[in-house]
Amino acid sequence: MAWWRNKKMKQEMIQEQKRSPVADTAFLPLIDMAAGACVPFVEFYARRLPVQMDPVGKSHLAESRYLGAEKVIEEKDLRQIIELGAGFTPHYQNLNGEGLVDSYIEVDLPENSEIKQGLLKQAVWDESMPTFVQGNVFDRKTWYSIGHHAFQNFSEEKPVGIFAEGFMQYTNPEQRKYLLDQMRPLLEEFGGFFFFEDSLTFHPEFSEIPEMRALSERMSKISKNDQLTNYISQEGLTHEFESYGFYVERMPAPLDNLTSRDLDDEGREVLSRFQHWILTPRPSEVLR
Ligand SMILES: C[S@@+](CC[C@H](N)C(=O)[O-])C[C@H]1O[C@@H](n2cnc3c(N)ncnc32)[C@H](O)[C@@H]1O
Repeated sequence: MAWWRNKKMKQEMIQEQKRSPVADTAFLPLIDMAAGACVPFVEFYARRLPVQMDPVGKSHLAESRYLGAEKVIEEKDLRQIIELGAGFTPHYQNLNGEGLVDSYIEVDLPENSEIKQGLLKQAVWDESMPTFVQGNVFDRKTWYSIGHHAFQNFSEEKPVGIFAEGFMQYTNPEQRKYLLDQMRPLLEEFGGFFFFEDSLTFHPEFSEIPEMRALSERMSKISKNDQLTNYISQEGLTHEFESYGFYVERMPAPLDNLTSRDLDDEGREVLSRFQHWILTPRPSEVLR
């Protein structure tokens, strides 16, 4: 029988897994991109997800952040990648297929990581796999495991790209500090960057646009996480990262090359203000 063709089996599997609510946030961006944009491999994944959901019609937001991550990877020539909260993104297939990466680690909660591995196994176009680390990124054990794989497989000659997509807006300041503290040794050892996309949560001014507020509230409800509507300004977040000992660089979010059919004036206005966050640790001697 084909993977999860049986609908009942899908439902049972989800119920049995006692999924963390935040894990469910991974479905919608993919479903939205598959419905409204044209991004390689996205439809393949979306058609095989063990849920059915109506798209929100904001594929331009998902597509822009997706393309933005790959733009940073290409522009910074990052061939060793750690993707945090990877969900069902097909970055690995795309980048690996194009010969743009050498080593790739995907990190997510076990409930999503298991599904992703199953999906990848049925992908007929390529048999290669990233390294999967299953775990909570706020747990030291997960970082031991990431570090173990990185030190075993990564070359010391090349920088590392650690990135999170659709994830940082769910974090509070203590969690962001925790993540940066865990990444620092890796980034200092190999060189490289931590990067993630800009989001509505980091632009309080957009909370006044009813559709944008509704989107944040919907994701907040799915994830049972109220950080999404706990807005922080661009200046506030920059200051926060600098206070944790990181330099902050910005890169405009992709806008002109989007395939999204739902890109409207409002979306254009939002994306024209979005910039990826790219962080590098200040050397320890400067911090003292
Ligand atoms: C909004 S989804 C984004 C998924 C994907 N990166 C994308 O852009 O479509 C957030 C992802 O982060 C994962 N996640 C949330 N909290 C996590 C945690 N504490 N540790 C590991 N993964 C986590 C979720 O399981 C989910 O896959």
